[in-house]
Amino acid sequence: MSHQKKTLKIVILGDSGVGKTSLMNRYSSGKFTGQYKATIGADFLSREIFVSDQFGVRRQVTLQIWDTAGQERFQSLGNSFYRGSDACLLVYDITDPHSLDNLDHWRREFLQHVGGNSLGDIDTTLGQSSFPFVVVGNKMDKQGDRLVPLDRAEDWCRRAAGNFAMGMARPLAHFESSAKTAINVEEAFQEAARLALQYE
Ligand code: GTP
Ligand code: MG
Repeated sequence: MSHQKKTLKIVILGDSGVGKTSLMNRYSSGKFTGQYKATIGADFLSREIFVSDQFGVRRQVTLQIWDTAGQERFQSLGNSFYRGSDACLLVYDITDPHSLDNLDHWRREFLQHVGGNSLGDIDTTLGQSSFPFVVVGNKMDKQGDRLVPLDRAEDWCRRAAGNFAMGMARPLAHFESSAKTAINVEEAFQEAARLALQYE
């Protein structure tokens, strides 16, 4: 087992306005702004963290977090955005049920683009994989406006895991977060990094 420093690439996908950029900024700089500025194109930020691998060895890794525009939903981002991804955060907004439904598109889009070598033998046509996806229901601070019950999101996470390995699949990892209050932001990225290290 190598103790070399490692870079893990995590891409964030989800509809426009769910809070992808806010989550990335909260995680990398600890800041939040209520003002909405749509992301144009794609960008990434890095943060050094420690993650325990499957042997319990603490490893220092550089998380490279890639953010993009949700508005480009029906356009292809091109393979370079996805290439070499080690994990994927699928973000929806707990006040917007459509954004949860749309995770099907985002997940399919991701699997189609990554495909090939980096995902090994994954059958993308069935949409089944053990690839590290972490599902994040953001804007948890807006409880009064909640339109996505927790169990509905958990159903989606079970369904998305499919019947990989004869129905033995675990549901996709799921967190409800708030980029505004910072709740579960660290946890979601940390889990993505942990799963990525396990998967490699
Ligand atoms: P695109 O770049 O268009 O894809 O959007 P995005 O997913 O990056 O959303 P962004 O992070 O820009 O956030 C959209 C709006 O939601 C902004 O006004 C944010 O301030 C707000 N927002 C983001 N996260 C939260 C949150 O956890 N709670 C609350 N209350 N507002 C949030
Ligand atoms: Mg954005």
